[in-house]
Amino acid sequence: MWKYFQMLLLLMVLLAHCHHAMGDGIWDYAVTAKTKIIFYDEHWREVTSSAHQFDYLSAIAFDETEEIVYFADRLHNNGSIFSLKLPRGGSTDDTHIIETIVHRTQNETISSIAYDPLDRNVYWVDQRSKKIYIASIGRKETESPKVFMDFAKEETLPDGIGIDFCRRKLYWTNSNFTNATIERIDLSGHNRKVIVSTDLYLPHGIVVDQLSDRIYWVVDQQGAHFTVESANLDGTDRRIVVKGINSTPFNLAVTKDLIYWTDQRHNAVFTHTKVASEKKNQTEEGAKEATNPHIIFKLQEKPSGIIGRSRYMTTLKQDDHCSGVVNKIKRRLLDSNIVSSINNNPSNMTLLHRDYCLNDGEYIAQSGICICKVGYVGARCETNECHNYCMHGTCTMSSTGQQKCSCQHGFYGKRCQSSKCSGYCLNEGECKIDNNGDPMCECADNFSGQRCDQNSTEICSLFCRILKYDSDTYVPFGCHDICEELASANEETARLYAIPTYKHLEVCKDQVTWTNTIIIALVAGVVSCLCLVLLIVHGVRRFYKPARPRIKKTFVVRRQPAASSDTPLTNRPIATEQCEITIENCCNMNYCDTPCFDPKMVQQTLSRDNNAKEDKKILIHNMEDDLY
Ligand SMILES: *[C@@H]1O[C@H](CO)[C@@H](O)[C@H](O)[C@H]1NC(C)=O
Ligand SMILES: *[C@@H]1O[C@H](CO)[C@@H](O)[C@H](O)[C@H]1NC(C)=O
Ligand SMILES: *[C@@H]1O[C@H](CO)[C@@H](O)[C@H](O)[C@H]1NC(C)=O
Ligand SMILES: *[C@@H]1O[C@H](CO)[C@@H](O)[C@H](O)[C@H]1NC(C)=O
Ligand SMILES: *[C@@H]1O[C@H](CO)[C@@H](O)[C@H](O)[C@H]1NC(C)=O
Ligand SMILES: *[C@@H]1O[C@H](CO)[C@@H](O)[C@H](O)[C@H]1NC(C)=O
Ligand SMILES: *[C@@H]1O[C@H](CO)[C@@H](O)[C@H](O)[C@H]1NC(C)=O
Ligand SMILES: *[C@@H]1O[C@H](CO)[C@@H](O)[C@H](O)[C@H]1NC(C)=O
Repeated sequence: MWKYFQMLLLLMVLLAHCHHAMGDGIWDYAVTAKTKIIFYDEHWREVTSSAHQFDYLSAIAFDETEEIVYFADRLHNNGSIFSLKLPRGGSTDDTHIIETIVHRTQNETISSIAYDPLDRNVYWVDQRSKKIYIASIGRKETESPKVFMDFAKEETLPDGIGIDFCRRKLYWTNSNFTNATIERIDLSGHNRKVIVSTDLYLPHGIVVDQLSDRIYWVVDQQGAHFTVESANLDGTDRRIVVKGINSTPFNLAVTKDLIYWTDQRHNAVFTHTKVASEKKNQTEEGAKEATNPHIIFKLQEKPSGIIGRSRYMTTLKQDDHCSGVVNKIKRRLLDSNIVSSINNNPSNMTLLHRDYCLNDGEYIAQSGICICKVGYVGARCETNECHNYCMHGTCTMSSTGQQKCSCQHGFYGKRCQSSKCSGYCLNEGECKIDNNGDPMCECADNFSGQRCDQNSTEICSLFCRILKYDSDTYVPFGCHDICEELASANEETARLYAIPTYKHLEVCKDQVTWTNTIIIALVAGVVSCLCLVLLIVHGVRRFYKPARPRIKKTFVVRRQPAASSDTPLTNRPIATEQCEITIENCCNMNYCDTPCFDPKMVQQTLSRDNNAKEDKKILIHNMEDDLY
């Protein structure tokens, strides 16, 4: 009947996505008050509470894989340890299923519970009998719990226990204040070892943080003092995370970044970062915030146990020490999936189940939970942890589910929430981010300096004063206007300040050099342009009008006609009597081949005068007349 009801609900959820608010059973923290267990979401808003005729609740433990809470009641008549299963999947029915795990046999005083998800065992400390007990969840009803550790013959008073289910070890605090210790033993019952034995007064709760591979514990120190401490799993590198006054811490829970503890003096839950404040440099950003543990909220009743969801099935999947155990747990859960689907045989339901978990989350039918992929949280893995995580940057997810931001230029901080510009430029200077990502200021009038922290009026007035007595003093250029203003304000200031005289000179000199350079450049430019133009014109001309071939023609003329019978034209002249005429640039070879002159005219001129130069001139002249 319940299964069908659940199926109906699943359908409702799938059809109506708006169903979100309270009551979908997703909680991240739980605290036991005296008569009830209160569940909170990630922002410590109360989600639900369970108050089922409880008398005096103390310790609490949580099985994340099956969504079962184990808790102890010191006074309940029917039993001492109970299990509680909350309804899931958006159920409107708030039936809390409570079962008795351990029946009451005597007046136990249970101070602490731990759960081993691999073997499904519950461990608890009974302070009255000074024993640590173990009981299997799947055991038969008649089977009574076994004694795991017996301190009856020792001076040990066991108080808190914590389990390292990955490395299979159990840790406990011994709160006998005369000789308090922190010890551990293998879950197989061997290798008991004292790992911390100094400076402990009344140590109470202890937890193993599988993410950082450290143990954390709380100590009620002498007087009103208290500490929250941490150490490596073997007790080395012990650090005090918080040291304070006026608090009586009882138990604690550790998440990715924070520690939470229940305080029985104020009936409150406190928180602090996991990082030790003593290690932090006081000048560092955020140091102040980290050194002060603060109350998250107060309760009506005395709180004792506290648990936080660690999502180890997701975050420890790739952890060196945990992956083996996590995989074994997962196999067990998936096997139970097959069993439950065979039992019920609704193929449509498994289909729905597959769709129930978003973003590749794996559905565990037995407990009705999703095991999400790294980076997703929520009952249905619907929330991307990176979404909106980095304010000014991009978010990436580590294999252990830690968000990491790479910030944009000019931003810093864990979530890139801080701008390098904020508060950087003083006196209304305008801030910009340069290419190296460093802030840079553009100062308002009358201010200067890297952060506009210098009052220019103040600084310049010093220069203007010195100038009054030493006119050669160098004055920064920006001060000229200010000096002028100061000196001309009134008579009194005129006596004190001087105006730098070389102000205009300096400006002129600058201008002259500037002009000269320009002129030189211009002239050079114009000249080279002209040369270029000439070259081009010449080239073009050469291209279109190739030079005329130079043609030479040589005429040999006899100086004096021989007295003999031979004619002057056919007669070979004697070397001493001949004369040569060379005619260049004759346009037409054919024309030149023929005599370019009238022989009669030659005769005429030759007979007239014997001047050779004159002859040549006339010849050329005549030839040109013929040509053109
Ligand atoms: C305790 O046990 C008795 C008898 O077994 C039962 O009637 C009663 O309801 C139980 N009380 C609680 C609080 O479970
Ligand atoms: C438990 O303690 C109460 C009073 O403290 C006593 O009345 C009762 O008999 C005790 N029960 C057992 C089983 O010892
Ligand atoms: C605590 O230790 C002292 C001696 O160191 C011993 O006398 C006392 O009995 C112890 N107390 C318990 C509760 O074991
Ligand atoms: C304290 O305990 C340690 C180890 O458990 C033991 O060696 C030492 O003698 C004890 N001291 C006292 C004063 O009981
Ligand atoms: C803290 O930081 C300042 C400057 O950043 C440095 O001078 C100082 O030594 C640091 N102190 C410690 C304890 O690291
Ligand atoms: C599964 O759903 C289909 C239609 O969606 C239906 O025809 C079929 O009978 C269902 N099977 C079971 C086993 O409910
Ligand atoms: C700068 O200072 C001068 C006098 O020192 C003043 O007259 C002027 O108003 C100031 N300018 C601004 C923007 O404050
Ligand atoms: C800058 O200095 C001058 C002279 O000391 C002073 O009159 C003026 O108020 C100062 N300006 C600011 C913004 O502090």
